[in-house]
Amino acid sequence: MYPLFSNKEKKNSQEQLEKEALDPQRIPNHIAVIMDGNGRWAQKRHLPRVVGHKQGMEVVEVITKAASNLGVKVLTLYAFSTENWKRPVDEVNYLMDLPVKFFNRFVPELISHNVQVNVMGDESKLPKKTQVAVHNAIEQTKSCDGMILNFALNYGSRTEIVEATKKIARDVKDEQLDESQINDEIFAKYLMSEQLHPYNDPDLLIRTSGEQRISNFLLWQIAYSELVFTEVYWPDYKPQNLYEDILKFQQRNRRFGGIKA
Ligand code: FPP
Repeated sequence: MYPLFSNKEKKNSQEQLEKEALDPQRIPNHIAVIMDGNGRWAQKRHLPRVVGHKQGMEVVEVITKAASNLGVKVLTLYAFSTENWKRPVDEVNYLMDLPVKFFNRFVPELISHNVQVNVMGDESKLPKKTQVAVHNAIEQTKSCDGMILNFALNYGSRTEIVEATKKIARDVKDEQLDESQINDEIFAKYLMSEQLHPYNDPDLLIRTSGEQRISNFLLWQIAYSELVFTEVYWPDYKPQNLYEDILKFQQRNRRFGGIKA
């Protein structure tokens, strides 16, 4: 007798079930992801670390589509931190080439999904070819008004906060801003995440690979985010994992410092 479902169909039906378990009215507007575990994924297979990054890039495409289909408004992906320059030069070069490869291949598909590309981080330190690829992608997708795919590239949260503080100090000195006006709302306007307004702050932060730390990512913005740490290495992360993590988010009781609703 033939099996009723092939393995692929079984997988798809499981994925579908996970998706259907979600409350479409409570999809997080902004999801941020620390895409960790590329190196370990590759090492487990006796492959060079960069193969993990390459597979990680493929996963970015799949998860971008899945998030956009769910109605997520902003997907922020930590692609390169200000600390990642400490890695071996070959690996850094490879990571700097990934946005070039990614945008060359996927911009038409991003446009067909109405996805707008955004980048936060110090772009001036990126190699010229990476800067050009990023700028072209931003330009080509600027009229897309669906989900924002926001890459954190050469991003570090402490630097972001220090730079915001310097700008505020300058504005106070130039009498553009009065010290008495500075509050949370005004401070947030000086951060890079203001480009994502009104979805500056992630509702859900996911870190893959079993590590449970923040690694200088969106320190201000995650004050009230729900944190989900999953064991899955990023290159193995599937839409089904995203649905499961969103379900965990939906099962939480967000109180923002208040009392139970
Ligand atoms: C952390 O894993 C991952 C990174 C530093 C790079 C993340 C980049 C990608 C997933 C690809 C990005 C794609 C685009 C389009 C820019 P790790 O290397 O620290 O893994 P490990 O902890 O297992 O060593």
